[in-house]
Amino acid sequence: MSIEERTFLMIKPDAVQRNLIGEIISRIEHKGLRIVGMKFLQVTPELAAKHYEVHKERPFYNGLVKFITSSPALAIVAQGKSAVSVGRLLVGSTNPVEASPGTIRGDYGLDIGRNMVHASDSVENAKYEASVYFNDNDLIDWSPVSDEWVYE
Ligand code: RTP
Ligand code: MG
Repeated sequence: MSIEERTFLMIKPDAVQRNLIGEIISRIEHKGLRIVGMKFLQVTPELAAKHYEVHKERPFYNGLVKFITSSPALAIVAQGKSAVSVGRLLVGSTNPVEASPGTIRGDYGLDIGRNMVHASDSVENAKYEASVYFNDNDLIDWSPVSDEWVYE
């Protein structure tokens, strides 16, 4: 719950192709989370295998890896109060058909296999996922001047 909490987010290939990068980053910024790391990359099969290790026995695993490696993606680490749960709330339910309006998936998607954004589901997984895509020194510790108007 600390304002030092960090989450890992990824703007997936479908959202990049659909020109939704700016829209999604706006939502992260406007909520008050600070971006501490960002990398535009083509996810390799090796990186995808590490990222989605927990899902490797699931029936959707091969399709997920094929999709995430199909076109560039944007990896992000964002920091702020309750960053992990806030990140999940901004993104919405896994299946965009069930995701609430006002969430990214609720506003922009229709298919579970094209749900536009990944968001870590625990602090521990956020640390692991960030380490798959970033070195420690890629993450910048900084203090936005707006913080005194975001936090009491
Ligand atoms: P994410 O990890 O991407 O933030 O999504 P999530 O926590 O909401 O969902 P998770 O259960 O971790 O699943 C990871 C991704 O796998 C795809 N998926 N497809 N066809 C299916 O039944 C199915 N289930 C999951 C989705 O792209 C999901 O985001
Ligand atoms: Mg997940």
